[in-house]
Amino acid sequence: MLKVNNVGVSYGGIKAVRGVTMELRPGELVSLIGSNGSGKTSLLRAISGLVDVDQGSIFIDGKDVAGVPAHERVKLGLAHCPEARKIFGQQSVMDNLLLGAFLRFKKEKKSEIEKTIDEVFAIFPKLKDRQTQLAGTMSGGEQQMLAIGRALMLKPKILILDEPSMGLAPVVIDEVFNVIGRIKETRQTSILLVEQLAYRALQLADRAYVLEQGVVRIEGTGAELQNSPEVRSAYLGGH
Ligand SMILES: Nc1ncnc2c1ncn2[C@@H]1O[C@H](COP(=O)(O)OP(=O)(O)O)[C@@H](O)[C@H]1O
Ligand SMILES: [Mg+2]
Repeated sequence: MLKVNNVGVSYGGIKAVRGVTMELRPGELVSLIGSNGSGKTSLLRAISGLVDVDQGSIFIDGKDVAGVPAHERVKLGLAHCPEARKIFGQQSVMDNLLLGAFLRFKKEKKSEIEKTIDEVFAIFPKLKDRQTQLAGTMSGGEQQMLAIGRALMLKPKILILDEPSMGLAPVVIDEVFNVIGRIKETRQTSILLVEQLAYRALQLADRAYVLEQGVVRIEGTGAELQNSPEVRSAYLGGH
């Protein structure tokens, strides 16, 4: 589904990602954990085509995406929920969801898109109640739900989530992770999850990678990493 081979990302002289190899298989949830500045966001941005790689290659659904711009990667089935969730604050919840499906309007019937809206509402009942509310007036947690819901409107093959818990209250974080778990259970979209809250990310993960200073230090199943003494002492203090 997604293959990353020896990828590097630099900003000027600073190497943020130094030769990362990883993969995401169909229907899998893979978590990427690591401390602040370890290169997680840079790697996600390289996958989405938002920054250039300075080495290595990326395959989306079997296609080498070297030189393919971000908006073309979206057409290959990649949806990216960035760190600072970017919803359209001046538009209603419903309009945000419809905008998420913009690529589908040309080739699909309205009824197909309405079906996805129903699926998204089934996952996020709150969005259904708030359809007409201006997105910018919703709480942080609701906006995060909307950002994920909007990404799902594309029916992506791959969903990339960068720190969905950021800035949210603990009870809302529970809700967000429940929702990610439900999306995973459908096995219709592969999920690449980056999260500071390592114990949360590992609980949900089929497999996971630990990134340190731009390289993969440890990889394994979610359970293996949850039980790894190294991971426990460095990333799971108290959990
Ligand atoms: N646009 C940028 N320009 C320069 N340096 C950057 C930029 N974005 C990230 N970096 C640097 O790259 C490193 C990795 O950052 P990032 O990928 O955001 O890590 P993470 O998401 O794991 O916190 C950090 O040292 C950060 O300061
Ligand atoms: Mg980051």
